Amino acid sequence: MKITVVGAGGNVGSTVAMTIAQRDFAKEVVAVDLEIKKDDKSFYPSRGRALDQWQTAPILNFDTRVKGTVSYEDTANSDICVITAGLPRRPGMSRDDLLSANMGIVRDVTEKLVKHSPNTIIVVVSNPLDLMTYVAWKTSGLPASRVVGMAGILDTARYRAFLAEELNLSPKDIQALILGGHGDSMVPLPRYTTISGIPVTHFISKDKLDAIIERTKTGGGELVGLMGTSAWYAPGTAAAQMVEAIALDQNRIFPCAAYLDGEFGLKDLYVGVPVLLGRDGVKKIIEIDLDEQEKALLNESADHVRKGLEDLQRLS
Ligand code: LAC
Repeated sequence: MKITVVGAGGNVGSTVAMTIAQRDFAKEVVAVDLEIKKDDKSFYPSRGRALDQWQTAPILNFDTRVKGTVSYEDTANSDICVITAGLPRRPGMSRDDLLSANMGIVRDVTEKLVKHSPNTIIVVVSNPLDLMTYVAWKTSGLPASRVVGMAGILDTARYRAFLAEELNLSPKDIQALILGGHGDSMVPLPRYTTISGIPVTHFISKDKLDAIIERTKTGGGELVGLMGTSAWYAPGTAAAQMVEAIALDQNRIFPCAAYLDGEFGLKDLYVGVPVLLGRDGVKKIIEIDLDEQEKALLNESADHVRKGLEDLQRLS
């Protein structure tokens, strides 16, 4: 199993690479990023971070060989490629503000990846997530089931972490589902939130749950405000969890950005829905029942993504 991570000189990409290596299920992780020129000197962050990570192998006990490079030739025949390349958010920016810059980057990276790995599966992490996943799919020529976006796992992880803190319960026992675009219009579903099978409403008042839902929706922005750049530990480990599910054909059910062709009444866009994830990528979209209010919120979120797609078309 060979896995490529693009943008691995950055925080999110290097977290993806490190997490995959530590989980020890892959033979090789190829960490790609650009050469940086500064003050007449050349720097190679992906090579540096990969070397540093490989040097943890004797301590952390893994065999996965992490190799840093600036050349896409080294990515040839990757089973799975993760795209984290692109600009991160800065304070005051929305994910949508990254659209034009990251569109060009994601397109360029996708072309280079599929040139060397024509049958790969692509996991997209770059923002604005739902739109960048669409760009990668269009550019790649791959079946939509082989291009999938990360975000639902991250958003539900934030929601579960906030709930665990509020209720003083283990985050391991909290199951949850968030649909929609990766943005402030995401749709957390209290009806599909349980703690060891018990509905969350048994444990928490409506007001407190609503406050947690609001904090989840703006959870990425909270971190940008604290750090001056966007988050990486949770986004990176979320992407690595998707890679593991694909690599090991685990048939896990996760909320991911998937291509919809009529499911949930939505067509020709990528948006967050529950999917069955395994060796072929998205094996199935799980069309759960939604009540009227949930449907309205999902449609609103999809409208937001659609507006972004129109902007994309204008920029192309
Ligand atoms: C976040 C960025 C990665 O939500 O979108 O932290």
